[in-house]
Amino acid sequence: MLSASLVHELRQPLFAARAMAQLAQAASRPDQVAGHLDGVLAQLGTLDLLLRAYSELSRSPLTEALTFDVWQAVDSALVVVGTAARRGGVGVRLLGERGVLVTAPALAVQQVLVNLLQNAIEALSATTPAELTLTVLAGPARVRVVDNGPGVAPEIRGRLFEPFRTTKPTGTGLGLVLSRDLARGFGGDLVLLESAPGRTAWELCLPA
Ligand SMILES: Nc1ncnc2c1ncn2[C@@H]1O[C@H](COP(=O)(O)OP(=O)(O)OP(=O)(O)O)[C@@H](O)[C@H]1O
Ligand SMILES: [Mg+2]
Repeated sequence: MLSASLVHELRQPLFAARAMAQLAQAASRPDQVAGHLDGVLAQLGTLDLLLRAYSELSRSPLTEALTFDVWQAVDSALVVVGTAARRGGVGVRLLGERGVLVTAPALAVQQVLVNLLQNAIEALSATTPAELTLTVLAGPARVRVVDNGPGVAPEIRGRLFEPFRTTKPTGTGLGLVLSRDLARGFGGDLVLLESAPGRTAWELCLPA
């Protein structure tokens, strides 16, 4: 499972870096080229962080608990998916409480959020206006990710957390399985609160 997880997590920044490099190639103005190259560097930074995390698992940010503000994890996850959200015309709203502290492996929390955000952005590809709302709640600490897309397809509704269940031509169907494993591994959980056309809500529960 670790190697499947590694492949899944590394694919996202890798594909994003490639897409940004292609944008840089196609751009005509030097400031546009520079902007896209900044994006490539940010994605390579994420790749480096992930590889370092996996190379020293015993002390990695994927397993080692730190105390941090939930918004730090939300902000880092938004940096990773920022280009995809902008390209998809997805409006992002941030709601809820400030200063909610959790003790958990920061990178694992960030990775679960990246997977949820990525899924939401993909689900919103045919929705206008596309809206993604992130809400941080306290007592117990949790993050809600809500999109106004079409909802989870009925044929996979009851089997979302089975490996290789995907409705996407290039999907692995591992994102949710790995995310729930990561969440339960650090004492949290990942649940689908509701899903209907126009509103799909996920909740990542975090340890205190
Ligand atoms: N926000 C959402 N709205 C509608 N359907 C969703 C949403 N999130 C997940 N799904 C459905 O759940 C399936 C499984 O998601 P999961 O993240 O496990 O794999 P994937 O997204 O298909 O592949 P990968 O994560 O490797 O790109 C998706 O293919 C999609 O059909
Ligand atoms: Mg996914």
